[in-house]
Amino acid sequence: MAQPTKMNPKSQGSGGREVWGTRLGFVLAAVGSAVGLGNMWRFSYVASEGGGAAFLILYVALIALIGIPLMLAEFSVGRRTHLSPIGAIRQVAGSRWVPLGVLYVLTGFLVLSYYAVIAGWTLRYSLDGILGGFAGDPGVYFESVATGWDAIAYHLVFMTITIGIVMNGVQRGIERAALILMPILFLILLGLAVWAATLPGAREGYAFYLQPSLAELMDPAVLTGAAGQAFFSLSLGMGAMLTFASYLSRDSDLNQEAVTVSLSDFLVAFIAGLVVFPVIAALGLQDQVGESAVGALFISLPGAFEAMGGIGRIVGILFFVALAVGALTSALSLLEVVTSSIIDELRISRRKAALGLGVLIAAVGIIPALSLDALGLMDAIAGELFLVIGAFGMAIVVGWVMPNVAGEMKRGASPAFERYVPGVVFLVRYVLPVVIGIVLWFSILETIENVQAFFVG
Ligand code: PHE
Repeated sequence: MAQPTKMNPKSQGSGGREVWGTRLGFVLAAVGSAVGLGNMWRFSYVASEGGGAAFLILYVALIALIGIPLMLAEFSVGRRTHLSPIGAIRQVAGSRWVPLGVLYVLTGFLVLSYYAVIAGWTLRYSLDGILGGFAGDPGVYFESVATGWDAIAYHLVFMTITIGIVMNGVQRGIERAALILMPILFLILLGLAVWAATLPGAREGYAFYLQPSLAELMDPAVLTGAAGQAFFSLSLGMGAMLTFASYLSRDSDLNQEAVTVSLSDFLVAFIAGLVVFPVIAALGLQDQVGESAVGALFISLPGAFEAMGGIGRIVGILFFVALAVGALTSALSLLEVVTSSIIDELRISRRKAALGLGVLIAAVGIIPALSLDALGLMDAIAGELFLVIGAFGMAIVVGWVMPNVAGEMKRGASPAFERYVPGVVFLVRYVLPVVIGIVLWFSILETIENVQAFFVG
């Protein structure tokens, strides 16, 4: 684990740009960006559907071969330029590539607008748990939470908190929040996993989650789904990691940070599954899980918690608080991508940029807060297709256009990691474009289907 060594006593770098106060602060902020609804909400569902333990092996391989190199690529661009996505891409690849930077900003904008709606649900569940439990029919309850005035209200509360933190800047806002919130999240999740192991359904739950099955892995949709999940979960393909790395000092060890962040993200996702499935199996609700990812977390789980009585309520509150915390630290990075770009491009103050953009994003979020179909469509377009396009563009820019990538990756690296740099550069140049290109092809086909389904009904 990273040591909290002091990197820079002042909050400003040489060019007047902010820098992280500590190395641990950067790592936790980046882990905070990665760990979010994607880990605790989508991962366990995708894994159990995709072949259990066999899927986990595939997923870890994808993280090692695609995720870590891509994260390193984003880190390198951010740290070299000390600029937000648009300016950074312009500097390393020229003006022709500026649309890629603009795509990152647009993706951050759109993803946050619906992400904050789902985050609002987690706030609502936490609060309702504290005030009186998740009463009534879980399906009906979910519907009342998920859309309409209530959904809008909690979405706005969540956006207000996010804006408030980002307005305070990198060190005093994002870093401080990560240093406080991430340890809380880890502790809650570990505690819950230990508790879940004692449940009568633990064995069935683990079996349902991890039962290895190779048949699914032969399905190309599982492979591309796993890759898409990895990008989303690691916050890649939309400049979030690039932006965070732009606040790093020149001598930080990018390799080690990329490995730490990626592995932490995977571990949290894995452990979340160790909580979710025993709870669901204890109540015999496995079959409901298959219906939808939303259903698994927001319908089956509250129902299960409620049925367990007093302890279930406490555990339920903790679980949804952990989800809300994860969502918040991810949302900070999403708003930071958009905010930092506008600060750099338009030269306005952070306070004005964060507030103005946050309000705009909150306003757009009213649409997914009114319609689950709209939310699903935005997730398919921005959260999947745009992310994959962004990841593809990043691989091309770093692999083929940016000068002296290897030098940038080697700077600050320990000798042990330095040896891997040529391999990483090879992956970014040749392997990433091919693999991401295949994923992109499937994403385009899938998006066309989704858009058709949305309009035909
Ligand atoms: N990684 C976050 C999650 O798993 C979502 C996210 C994606 C955040 C892209 C920032 C950028 O929930």
